[in-house]
Amino acid sequence: MHQDLDQFSVTEAVLEQMADTPDARLKLIMESLVKHAHAFARDVDLKPEEWLAGIAFLTQVGQACTPSRQETILLSDTLGFSALVNILAANRQQSKATDPSLLGPFYRAAAPQKQIGDSIAEAADAPELVFYGQVQNGAGHGIPHAEVTVWQTDAHGFYDMQLHGEEKMDHRATFITDANGNFHFRTVRPLGYYIPMDGPVGRMIKAQQRHGCRPAHIHFLIGADGHQELVTSLYLSDDQYIGSDVVFGVSRSLIVTPKADPNSPIPELEAIHYDFMLAPSGSCGAGRVGADPSQLVNV
Ligand code: BEZ
Ligand code: FE
Repeated sequence: MHQDLDQFSVTEAVLEQMADTPDARLKLIMESLVKHAHAFARDVDLKPEEWLAGIAFLTQVGQACTPSRQETILLSDTLGFSALVNILAANRQQSKATDPSLLGPFYRAAAPQKQIGDSIAEAADAPELVFYGQVQNGAGHGIPHAEVTVWQTDAHGFYDMQLHGEEKMDHRATFITDANGNFHFRTVRPLGYYIPMDGPVGRMIKAQQRHGCRPAHIHFLIGADGHQELVTSLYLSDDQYIGSDVVFGVSRSLIVTPKADPNSPIPELEAIHYDFMLAPSGSCGAGRVGADPSQLVNV
C-alpha cells in the first residue's frame, strides 16, 4: 500500500518496520538512533548535497583505515563521542577506580614485555624521566602480577607506527607488577602532538578552525585477575593544550608534573609518581573504548 509519508511519519514508518527486532538492546539502540538521526535532519533542514557530502566523508573515513591507522575511532574521538562513552562507563561504575581516558588509535596489542626498571625507549635521544607507581585494589592494597601496558610518543611527538608503520615497536612495553603491585620504568618526556591531520578527520578539524593537538601524555592499559581492566592516560601539566585537548581525554585527576623525587627508585632522574586503582571485576562500567587498528580491518 502506498504510504503518504511526511517528515514526521517517515520516522514512525521506519520504527514500525524494525519493531520485531528480537534482540531487545539492538532494538533500543536502533530506534533511538533513527529518532535522533531523523530529528537532526529536520533540525538542520538537511539538503541533498549536504547528505551526499556526509556520505562521501564517511566513505573516506572508512577508506583511510589500515592495519596501523583507525580513522573511524579518530572521528569518534574528535567529536567527543569516545569521551562520552568513557564518562557513561565511569558513571555506571560503583566501585572506586582511577578515571579512564581514551585508548586512542595508537594502541597496539602485544607490546614488548620488559623488566621493571627498563627503558621503553629504544634509544633515549632526550633527557630521561622515571615513572613509578603501584597498581592497587579498592582498599588501596597493591595488586601483585598485574599487567601494565604503556605507550607514548617519542620526545618529538611521534608514535612508532607513524614513523615505522607496523614494522617496529618503540616507546611502548608491557610490565608485570612485583609482589607488592609496584612497577617503574625509564622513558623520555612525551610531546604533545597533532592527531593525524592528513585524512578526512584532519580536513574536518581544519574546517572547524580547531588546533588539532593533544597535550603530552602517557597511555596505560592495566589488567589484573579479579579486576576490571583500566584504560587511562596521564597528562603533563605544563602542556599548552592541557585545557583544550582535541579529543577531550583530560580529567583533572589524571594531570601530573614530573619533578625531582628522593623517594623515586631512580632519584637522579625527574620522576612521575602515580598509583592506579582498579575496580573489582563484575562491577559495571567495564569495556575498552578503542582497539588495535589491525584488529578492525581485513588483513
Ligand atoms: C592518543 O592519545 O593516542 C590519541 C587519542 C585519540 C585520538 C588521537 C590520538
Ligand atoms: Fe596518545
